[in-house]
Amino acid sequence: MSLKITILVGTMTGTAQLVAQELELAWDDGETRVETLLMDQLDSSVFARAGVFLICTSTYGQGDVPDNAKGLYEDLKAKRPDLSRVRYGVFGLGDRTYAETFNFGGKRFDELLAELGARRIGERVKHDASSGILPEEMAAEWGEDWLRQAREAAVAAA
Ligand SMILES: Cc1cc2nc3c(=O)[nH]c(=O)nc-3n(C[C@H](O)[C@H](O)[C@H](O)COP(=O)(O)O)c2cc1C
Repeated sequence: MSLKITILVGTMTGTAQLVAQELELAWDDGETRVETLLMDQLDSSVFARAGVFLICTSTYGQGDVPDNAKGLYEDLKAKRPDLSRVRYGVFGLGDRTYAETFNFGGKRFDELLAELGARRIGERVKHDASSGILPEEMAAEWGEDWLRQAREAAVAAA
């Protein structure tokens, strides 16, 4: 069964985009089709797409979503669409130096999507920029198992 994955990227300086590129390379094989979209200009209607979603976002300010993710985040909050058919994963990027707000960008999206009825696939990933582990390496390793879980979710929903 073919699977479509839309990766939604929230980023300030491009790190989350590198993660998305790595995952796209690892996952896109004809059977699994991956499309990566920067969150800029997107609104909540993006969740009407078929397939599953991966939110790949960093954290800025006082634990905020990055600037390019604000429009989508606020639109979801304002319109509160019913996302009960949506399955999603979260790959969050942050830095433990910001102890109080570590990885809040991913956390905010996760909590909002869950509130709107969407169901997460797997655990929320919390990459730590001060860990010394490259986020794209963490993503490649994590991505294998997540893909398997996403496939199971898609089969169950079919
Ligand atoms: C000004 C600034 C504020 C940040 N605030 C937070 C924060 O509150 N919490 C957190 O976990 N990481 C925070 N970070 C760390 C970034 O989320 C992290 O470096 C991430 O890898 C950047 O990814 P990006 O290039 O995709 O934006 C901050 C970084 C900067 C430069």
